Amino acid sequence: MIKRDQPYIRQLFVCINNRHGESPSCGYSGSEEMVEELKKVCKERNLKGKIRAAKSGCLDLCAFGPNIMIWPEGLWYMKVTKDDIPQIVDTFLKLEEQDKPAQAALSAAPAK
Ligand code: FES
Repeated sequence: MIKRDQPYIRQLFVCINNRHGESPSCGYSGSEEMVEELKKVCKERNLKGKIRAAKSGCLDLCAFGPNIMIWPEGLWYMKVTKDDIPQIVDTFLKLEEQDKPAQAALSAAPAK
């Protein structure tokens, strides 16, 4: 095992858990479509490598899906639609802009 500080300051988690209609879930509510829209918006804006998005399992607010969270701020977006994705990307980028000095320090830190 290699232990180190977190490599990223921020990530976007998109719940893709799918219960196939047996009970509410983000995947069944269209979260995979949100992932595709996120990729599309990032490609259109030439943001490759700037948005760190991770598909996640259940975030425990299933009835309000699709759920997307910006970590570590815990900014939570529920019932997300494709039209919301550009605003979520904008928020992520604004937060990234605010902590550029901290990111530079993380990049320079040696692995532990
Ligand atoms: S299925 Fe997404 S929060 Fe539970």
